[in-house]
Amino acid sequence: MNKRVLFLIKAIFVILVLILFAFAANWHFNKNVSYTNDLPDKKTLIVYYSHSNHTEEIANIIKQYLNCDIKKIKSEEYENINTIDLTNLVTEQIQKNYLPKTEKVDISGYNVIFIGSPVWKGDLSLPVKSFLINNDFKNKTIIPFYTFGGYVDKPKLDNEIKKISNNDNVLPSFLTVHYKFAFIEYRVTRWLNKIHLN
Ligand SMILES: Cc1cc2nc3c(=O)[nH]c(=O)nc-3n(C[C@H](O)[C@H](O)[C@H](O)COP(=O)(O)O)c2cc1C
Repeated sequence: MNKRVLFLIKAIFVILVLILFAFAANWHFNKNVSYTNDLPDKKTLIVYYSHSNHTEEIANIIKQYLNCDIKKIKSEEYENINTIDLTNLVTEQIQKNYLPKTEKVDISGYNVIFIGSPVWKGDLSLPVKSFLINNDFKNKTIIPFYTFGGYVDKPKLDNEIKKISNNDNVLPSFLTVHYKFAFIEYRVTRWLNKIHLN
């Protein structure tokens, strides 16, 4: 093999190893999320809706690092239906401005609320909208996270949360496409560290 080609291959290999090393080191130092969720002003709850478990996966990672309470928003209307039927139903409901009934989630004892939603038709999922309408977010900090499948306008979702909850105290949100869960723990912990919870 030509000496130059060999040198190039070696150089690329070294660069790749260095990138991998930098990545691993970055993750190592990022991984610890220091957060005390039982301080009187930091009682934390994760609330999420999930139909096909992507958003649930993110909720569980957050819980793993913050060790706080977690509650799933439940709505009988969407149980045991496949994605195609769900999409048809939701399309119809959006046209009618309809919001589903959801089981009550009591947020009264918490001041920091993580809210997780799948993206539905470019917007928040309907059960999350119901949850936002049915609760009082006065003096609470909201931290949103979303999963989606194709395209989404994140600022629009954040603004929806602010508008419906009637609360501007919304910290930067986390967004991930559902089939790119690679390095997901790294990305979630980096986000949690960036928003300076403590
Ligand atoms: C009714 C419905 C509408 C959706 N609309 C969108 C959309 O507008 N944009 C998008 O990127 N993904 C859309 N998706 C894909 C979901 O956002 C994605 O699969 C998400 O990760 C599902 O989360 P879950 O598994 O927690 O339910 C839609 C899915 C459903 C079921």
